[in-house]
Order: sequence, then C-alpha cells, then structure tokens
Amino acid sequence: MCGIVGYIGKAQAFPVLIKGLHRLEYRGYDSAGVALINDRGSLNIYKAKGKVEELELAVEEQDITGSVGIAHTRWATHGEPSTRNAHPHCSRSERLALVHNGIIENYESLRKELILKGYGFRSDTDTEVLVQLIDDVLTSTGTDLFAAVRTALQRVTGAYAIAVIDKQNPKQIVAARKGSPLVVGISNDALYLASDATPIAEYTSDIIYLDNEQVALLEEGQQPIVSTLKGEQVTYTIRHTDIAVGQLEKNGFEHYMLKEIFEQPDTLQQAMQGCMSAAGDIQMPDWDRCKQRFLNADRILLTACGTSWHAALIAKYAIEQFAHIPCEVEYASEFRYRQPVIKDRDVMIAISQSGETADTLAAIELAKQNGAFIYSICNVQGSSIPRLSDACCYTHIGPEIGVASTKAFTAQVLVLNMLALAIGKENGHLSLKQYTSLTNEMRRLPQYITTILLQNERIAKAARTLTFAADALYLGRGFLYPIALEGALKLKEISYIHAEGYPAAEMKHGPIALVSHDLPVVVVAPKDSLYDKMVSNIREITARHGRVIAVVTEGDTQVRDISELTMTVPPTADCWYPILTIIPLQLLAYHVAVAKDCNVDQPRNLAKSVTVE
Ligand code: G6P
Repeated sequence: MCGIVGYIGKAQAFPVLIKGLHRLEYRGYDSAGVALINDRGSLNIYKAKGKVEELELAVEEQDITGSVGIAHTRWATHGEPSTRNAHPHCSRSERLALVHNGIIENYESLRKELILKGYGFRSDTDTEVLVQLIDDVLTSTGTDLFAAVRTALQRVTGAYAIAVIDKQNPKQIVAARKGSPLVVGISNDALYLASDATPIAEYTSDIIYLDNEQVALLEEGQQPIVSTLKGEQVTYTIRHTDIAVGQLEKNGFEHYMLKEIFEQPDTLQQAMQGCMSAAGDIQMPDWDRCKQRFLNADRILLTACGTSWHAALIAKYAIEQFAHIPCEVEYASEFRYRQPVIKDRDVMIAISQSGETADTLAAIELAKQNGAFIYSICNVQGSSIPRLSDACCYTHIGPEIGVASTKAFTAQVLVLNMLALAIGKENGHLSLKQYTSLTNEMRRLPQYITTILLQNERIAKAARTLTFAADALYLGRGFLYPIALEGALKLKEISYIHAEGYPAAEMKHGPIALVSHDLPVVVVAPKDSLYDKMVSNIREITARHGRVIAVVTEGDTQVRDISELTMTVPPTADCWYPILTIIPLQLLAYHVAVAKDCNVDQPRNLAKSVTVE
C-alpha cells in the first residue's frame, strides 16, 4: 500500500512522477504529494488530500520544474488522510524530503529521542521520524546521504520502502527497502524508482528488483549503486519486464474493472498456456523441481488473503477430489501468528495476485523455516512471493488494476485446478479417462466465458433493482460455496452493500432469520452434482418470500421459475463451474456499484496491494 515514484535524469521530473502516481493509485488514494529540486537548488514540496488529480490541481501556478523528484500516493496507516499527513515529509533542516511505504514499528521511541534533541513534528505519521532521524545522522556525523540513510535504517524496526532527496546533493536519490517493494528502472538518460514496474514500463524494460535491507544510490548519469544496510556493495541483476503500456490503459472501457472482466476469455487462455506443454498436455511450471514434493506430500497447506483465499478454498475441493491429498486452507494473517504444526513433508501453496501481500509473505517465511516446500501462484513477475518460493507458477494475465480482483481470480482457480489434475494423474488417483474429459472441457472455458459476457446489458438493467438493498445473501454448495463468498465480497467491496456468503445448507442455522421480501438472495445453482440439494435450499427461501437471483445452467427452468432474475452459464464439469459462475456475479457487482455512483476502480478504504499487516 502507498505508491512511491522517483525520477532523476535529463528531462523534467514532474510529468513522469504524476503519470507514475496515476499508475500506482491502485495502491492507495487518501492523499498524494511530490517533492522536486529545481535548477536553482530549491526544494519544493506540494501535497493534497485525496486523489492524484487533487495534487495536480494544487500545483497549478506553482514551480514544478526540476529534473529530480520523488512522489507518493498514500493509504493511511498512522494519521488520518490529510494534507498534513501526506508525504513527502520534510526534515527540520528543510534540506531533506522523504516518501515511505510501510510501518515503522519503533517510531514512538525514536520520536521521543528526537524530541529530546530538539526536533519538532508536524504530522501524526510514523514516517516523519525517518526523515528527522536521517537528518540527525547527517548533521551530527557530516557523512553523505547514502551512508546516513544506511545508518538511520539500522535503528529502525518495521517495514519500509523509502526514497529521499537532499537539496544539498541535488543530483541524487537514495532509496531503500525492507518488507515493502521497490524497483529501480534504468534507461539511457534517466533512472527511475517505483513501488512496482508499472510506472516505469513506458520508459524502460530494464529493472532492478531491490531485495530486503538493500539501499540504492541513484545518481544522474551513473549506473545505480546498491549496498546492504552495513554498506557492503551488492552485485545486482538487471531483469526485463514484459509489461506492455497498452495493458495499463482502459482501452475504451469505462472502468478497469469492466475491462478486466471482459479480458477473461483471453486471460484464461494465457494462464492455461502457461501450464501446458508444447503437445497440449498439462505441464505445471517448475514441475521437475516440485513433482516429487507434491507426490510425497502428507498434506498441502494453502494460504492467501482476500480473493486469493477464495481461490485457495476451491483448490482444496479440487486437490482432495482429484489427488486425494489432505488440504488445509489458511488465512495468512492467522497462520503467521498461531503456532501451526508444520512438517517437512508439507507443501505450502501460496496464492497472491500482487506477490507482495505482507501477511502471505510472513506465512511463507514461517512455513519455509519449518521445512515446508513453497509453491506459489502469482501474477506479478519478479515480486517478493515468487522470489521467496521454491517454485512458482505465474498466471500471465497482465496487470490487474481494478482494486476488486476479477481476472486474477479466474486465472488462479484455473491453474490450481490444473495443478490438482496434474497431481491426480501422476499419483494415479484420477483415471486417464476422467483426466482427459476434464482437460477437454477446460479448453472450452474461454469460449464459454465469451457467451456469458453477452448478458452484460441485461445484467446492467437488472442491477438497478438492487441499488436500494441494504444487505444481500449469497449461497452456494461444494465447489460453489467459495463462489458465494467471492460474489458477496465483490458486491460489498465496490457497492458498499453488506453481503454475506454462506454454504447454502448452513443457512438454516442462522441467516434464514434474515430472509424477507426485502433481502436479495443470490444463489449459485448450476446443474452440478449438488443441484437437487440446492433447489431444496432455494425453496426454503422462496417459501419465506426472499427475492432470489440465480446463476443457473442454460436451459434450466426449475430454478428460473422461482427466481426474480436468472443469469446463465453453459453446462460444464463441477470443478469448472466456479470459473463460469463468478463472471455474472462480477458483472452484477460492477453494475450495482455503477448504478450507485460508487468509485468502482478505487473503492473507499481499500488498496490493491496490501504490503502492511
Ligand atoms: C487486497 C485486494 C484484493 C486481494 C487481496 C490479496 O485486499 O484488494 O483484491 O485479493 O489484497 O492480494 P494478493 O495480491 O495477495 O492476491
């Protein structure tokens, strides 16, 4: 959370920084700010509460010249969203400006110590202690900025990605990371800094991914220098990002979320391709390295957060059914702070779109320390989770920018099911006949999704009837219970309607008390092996005058006749229904949010990449 951008080069920094902030706005949008050193050596800092466009308005008529600068878009942790708490923060001497992503855990004690030395504080943030601490080291030791940052950071506990500029050294940016991500971009005439590669992709594909506790010196006209906190120089690898700038645009859609929903026939194809051999059979990435670990596993631990956790839940159904290996699904944030029993024959599958979620990273570290093998499913190339894992399967769906995850989820479910089928085939639990039938059906999914998307207009009209609902209940069974959870999450995160997902049969143990003619009950009821059970559950709702909105298989009449609205999906196998049935629910949530005039791509209080615990 929070996005950082930096630029040092021959051009003007401001346009690069602002464009970069827009690209990173998915990380937080409570306030934004920029610091620039102009040609006369003045340090100018501008900030605004709210989105990056507010910052653009605030700098009209201001001096925004300068070829070195840093910028920040904030997701508030310490201190309310306000101009005062917005980054960059400035040192007492007014020579330094600093931006930060992360949380400084010992900021209270550092703050007290600095106050005793005469430092005053202008914000409620943990970040401000960092800039004053670096200022203190600089002024008391007379060392250079690169060394001062290293010395100061040795006293800090917590997570950080930072960038600092110094008006007395106007041709440098010093950056460092621990826990929160930071990348450096290198082009012929400039160096760039950003929380991920997306703001840099249009200028260069040459990227250095900084590792934990590394500090980088970016100097105009020089190659970057990277060192440890102790000052030992580090040899880095320059990697190439494959992000195409077109992937970062809305391409005619009103919102990124809608664009990403409509991309799913293609993204599923890409994700499938990434797990196929040239002969068209399932071939999981890194399979040679991990096959034996999966075949010998006593247990598989699946860990993730948010939408990725719902994908993990579906994987439990698939792996237990097809490969007969016991699975446990763990919220990473809970797993990391219990004392879980982890054995060295365990395999952990960690699922994350961003590859940077702090809790998922910590869960992986814990499992790794206890000897588990880590296989990750990630989207962002070069991110921290794949780098920490023993093996990784990328989903290859391009950048996902809408805060509500859509195409990442369907790709995760696809590759997890493919993994389950691959293990089941290999360990003999799945017959060749079943395997062939399921993989043949899998290849039809992109085409199926194209037909589901044709209902967009109809779902948009129907969504208007839901805008006044205060609550909604989502029900599903088996493979589709996680879809009830995910459908409910989509609705609540972007339309702010309270929604709960439930296993349909559990409804009798509580939620049925909520059913009335005002309560929309969204049922995920295609013709799978639990269809008849589901129909009985739906009848329990209609008997109590609940409003039923149903996702059903094409041609279904039984559920259609007792529902206010039906959305259809083509018939498929149980394990593939999650991928099909979530599509109408994504569209439903999207259109309800649009009808309520909500900010679909940047819902309040949320951020796409959660790099703080
Ligand atoms: C945030 C995002 C969700 C995402 C979750 C986990 O809450 O808003 O869309 O599912 O983080 O993120 P990850 O990148 O680890 O999948």
